Amino acid sequence: MYKHVIRLVHHQGWAEGHPVEIFMPLCEGNVDDLFEPYKARHECKSPPNYHKPKWLHDFIDQVLDALSFLQKNKILHHDLKSDNILYTRSKDKGVTYRFLLSDFGLSITRRRGVWDNKKPGALAYRAPELTQSRKPHPNSDVYSFGIMLLELLGVYCGDEATQEFSWREKLKGFHVRNYNHYRDEVPERGADWGRVEDLRGHSRVESLATYGIVPSAFMYVLERDPAKRSSAADARSRLLPLRAQPRNGPSEPDLQPPARNPPAVSFPHIGPPI
Ligand SMILES: Nc1ncnc2c1ncn2[C@@H]1O[C@H](COP(=O)(O)OP(=O)(O)O)[C@@H](O)[C@H]1O
Ligand SMILES: [Mg+2]
Repeated sequence: MYKHVIRLVHHQGWAEGHPVEIFMPLCEGNVDDLFEPYKARHECKSPPNYHKPKWLHDFIDQVLDALSFLQKNKILHHDLKSDNILYTRSKDKGVTYRFLLSDFGLSITRRRGVWDNKKPGALAYRAPELTQSRKPHPNSDVYSFGIMLLELLGVYCGDEATQEFSWREKLKGFHVRNYNHYRDEVPERGADWGRVEDLRGHSRVESLATYGIVPSAFMYVLERDPAKRSSAADARSRLLPLRAQPRNGPSEPDLQPPARNPPAVSFPHIGPPI
């Protein structure tokens, strides 16, 4: 199908009363395994433990490439998270990573302007338009990708979407000067939240970008309004140069330490005008 989407090799067993079997090439593992050492160092209530795996650039490049392929074909993965992305490694010239989207069990398509009606995947990764009104948008997967990046960089984890601890204290730990202005926003409970009562994630995620804890380019993928959020192709071209533009010397240019003061700027939007 596509170079960064897992290939369907064979399927069988469609007769009634039989299990359906699908066959795919065997990969080395899923990206959650690759994330593990980085996640292990994350502590929810502590300041960030910035890190940058050597495969980060390939990960951004290939996964956003796959998402832009899906977008062009009016498909939403709808359950994008690290354990649904597989990887293989080859050792020709150094180690080369290849990432593949998999587990399309919750994916939906848009036909004649209408999305399939299917429950979206894990809450912590769900875009705001999916948690509240369950209105999918072509950019919904891009938000989930942004959450994965935050996890990977050690500044956030999925558990923090619903935990009741003081996020304000956490911002204080990030040395944000106006941390006491922060208020958790708990949106009205959507129709489809299951047992989860309080989702604080969106306002917390937003604070990471608006207080300058992550590079401002992240706002393109984490923007709350899907119409202002980047498409996958735009996100790819905006996030990839982060590595290639050193600010103060050659090392880790894309993981600057947190800005000490919240920037009083509004981030440029690249979607269509509202
Ligand atoms: N082609 C594959 N190669 C290697 N591991 C795979 C492959 N497909 C799935 N897996 C592993 O099996 C796990 C479950 O598969 P998945 O398709 O995500 O189903 P589900 O999440 O619905 O149980 C994945 O997290 C992944 O680690
Ligand atoms: Mg899965």
